[in-house]
Amino acid sequence: METSDHPALADRSFTRKTPGMEFEFRPLAEDDLATMHRWLNDPAVVRWWEGDDVSWEGVVRDYAPDREPDSQEHYIAALDGEDVGWISCGPVADWPDESIEWSELGADEEVGGIDYLIGDPDRRGQGVGSAMIRAFVRDIAFGEHHEWTQVGADPAEDNSGSWGALASVGFRQLGTYGDDDGEWRVMVFDRSQLSSD
Ligand SMILES: CC(C)(COP(=O)(O)OP(=O)(O)OC[C@H]1O[C@@H](n2cnc3c(N)ncnc32)[C@H](O)[C@@H]1OP(=O)(O)O)[C@@H](O)C(=O)NCCC(=O)NCCS
Repeated sequence: METSDHPALADRSFTRKTPGMEFEFRPLAEDDLATMHRWLNDPAVVRWWEGDDVSWEGVVRDYAPDREPDSQEHYIAALDGEDVGWISCGPVADWPDESIEWSELGADEEVGGIDYLIGDPDRRGQGVGSAMIRAFVRDIAFGEHHEWTQVGADPAEDNSGSWGALASVGFRQLGTYGDDDGEWRVMVFDRSQLSSD
């Protein structure tokens, strides 16, 4: 199956450049799975994946373009031609547990959720992650999903690198919620912030 065959990515323009920045987002393809497997097996990344199966089989099952169809879209972010990270989005309404919690904290009904990582440990903590999120929110999340009025994420309360990156993009905290896996900080960015961004 070609990347573009995945239902969640059908009929999209696949490569988007952010004017003035060098980020390029392309749908995660079969050829990217080995990189994704390596990135996810970094202990500094997998500690935030809450017990997800990051074996080769698990990565293929969850990220391959021909996986069981779902509404999540996975992209590889390239900066100056180098693959630096993964970033993903999908309607929070399709995440059963989160959508109830987010809604109780006041998130919009039409909210898209994002998740992300910077692959090379040496590139973290230098502003690359927040720049990647900023470009993705504008060009892909809002740019490709006209129904979304808001984009959000719910990093772990103790993942200060993640919510720090969101805060520097302009996301605001709606609140926190807890479940069996920990405490989560819900942060959102409104479409109306784009013009003043
Ligand atoms: C989360 C991640 C993508 C952030 O990218 P990054 O490039 O490291 O983050 P940045 O350098 O852009 O940091 C952005 C902001 O967060 C702040 N920040 C970074 N680390 C921080 C920390 N430990 N505590 C508080 N703030 C922090 C920075 O000061 C910066 O704020 P500023 O722009 O106001 O100076 C990256 O660290 C990563 O891949 N982590 C492992 C995977 C992960 O946690 N994914 C998210 C799961 S929810």
